[in-house]
Amino acid sequence: MGSKAEILKILRAEKGVVSGASLSELLGISRVSIWKHIHQLQQHGYDIRATARGYQLDGDTDALHPWEFPEREGHIHCFEQVNSTMDIARELARKGCPHFAVIIADRQRKGRGRLKRIWLSDSGGLYFTVVLRPLIPPVFSPRINLCASLTLAKILESAFAVPAAVKWPNDVLVGDKKISGMLSEMEAEADRVAYVNVGMGINVNNDPSPLEPGAVSLKEILGHEVSRKNLLARFLDAFEDGLAEPGFENVVAEWKQYTITLKRYVKIVTLHDELEGEAVDVDQNGSLILRLSDGSLKTVSYGDCFHL
Ligand code: BTN
Repeated sequence: MGSKAEILKILRAEKGVVSGASLSELLGISRVSIWKHIHQLQQHGYDIRATARGYQLDGDTDALHPWEFPEREGHIHCFEQVNSTMDIARELARKGCPHFAVIIADRQRKGRGRLKRIWLSDSGGLYFTVVLRPLIPPVFSPRINLCASLTLAKILESAFAVPAAVKWPNDVLVGDKKISGMLSEMEAEADRVAYVNVGMGINVNNDPSPLEPGAVSLKEILGHEVSRKNLLARFLDAFEDGLAEPGFENVVAEWKQYTITLKRYVKIVTLHDELEGEAVDVDQNGSLILRLSDGSLKTVSYGDCFHL
């Protein structure tokens, strides 16, 4: 654990004044180093009071910094504002960053949605991309996307008692409103995936714009703000666990239990095409199987899905 993470852990647990000497002894670093870390934390907005007796954390912050994820601190990259976390993730992935590097931004100037849409990314939301290097054939990579949306839906249910559902391909809905969207980008060579970057936008404490009437935030649902860093930490742990299962054998079956897309009439829109039919199944590659009006089955691997 890094020094800032340790200092915060001690100050949060103590809920009172902790002397510089005790911090120095507990961390095994000099009092000057402690002072420097405290000073940097203050500059990052942590309300730490320095008194003659020591340091006290007066008010906490929901700021997203690497040291707020102590177990994975070295793999976390936080930014106040970027164009898109997908751009940074691609750059890092191409430079060889490790599996499960995470790029987080408080705001995005050019947040990207699926099918070339814009993803509005105001303060209060969670915007991040996880770089993955899975040992699977490229054809299975959509299972990773299903795993991400399923993981979030399960957390919304278990941590906040919010009944969330997944909509094909990768949306998470509460009621008929979208709380999260996901975008993934992959580079592969023959039968080997070089990387899959999974980018998620979650409406947490932001107020979705009136331009997005179909969107809802967790704050709107619960009536109060929630800790983005706790939600993200929980998501990353559960997502990592989900990916650790060999071949993600159970992902598709479990995703089907959480979906509201199957057994419905849907319209699938791609950049070039539109298709209507009954959504009858999702196959092991994450593709949607539609029964068309003439009774024939059609497998669709990407597109936007509208429930009719
Ligand atoms: C969609 O539903 O259309 C997908 C939205 C994906 C948004 C996330 S926010 C983090 C990452 N960076 C982006 O530019 N897009 C994804």
